[in-house]
Amino acid sequence: MRDSRFVFALLLGVLTVLALLSHPAHADEEIRPRPAAPLSPGFRFTEATGEELFASACQGCHMPDGKGAIGAGTYPSLAQDSNLESGGYPVYVVVRGQRAMPPIGAMMTDAQVAAVVNYVRTHFGNQYQDAVSADDVKRVRPERYPR
Ligand code: HEC
Repeated sequence: MRDSRFVFALLLGVLTVLALLSHPAHADEEIRPRPAAPLSPGFRFTEATGEELFASACQGCHMPDGKGAIGAGTYPSLAQDSNLESGGYPVYVVVRGQRAMPPIGAMMTDAQVAAVVNYVRTHFGNQYQDAVSADDVKRVRPERYPR
């Protein structure tokens, strides 16, 4: 008598566990498509001024005094650089990259690229006062880069 009660209780327990495991809500979750994970926006510079942007994005290669360096690579001097006379050239190099110079402007907004280019063109012995604008930057962006 005591034995059959025990077997009954045991069966009841096993059935309860099985019922819980196969609960329809549980099965639903497996089938329902998960919401698409948002794409990573990637790294973006947060600095706003040309000076800050130069410090965080450029001086690692071009050096704090803008004079560049020769060692593991050749990083040209931006000091007294007549190549900066036309603002479109540094805008293009920063946005698109050029040989060993990475397209670092891809991680900046148009306004940030303009700010850092204007900073370089008016510091380190450069005195090009005709500032470039965010629109000048927008014009050289390849389509695949987010703005
Ligand atoms: C990873 C290193 C690196 C970083 C970071 C970098 N540059 Fe350069 N940059 C270079 C190299 C290398 C060149 C030479 C490219 C070539 O061979 O034409 C260059 C060239 C340039 C030129 C052309 C100079 C000339 O006289 O023709 C400009 C302008 C320039 N960089 C500006 C910048 C600015 C502004 C930043 C920051 C927003 C920056 N660079 C960040 C490596 C770097």
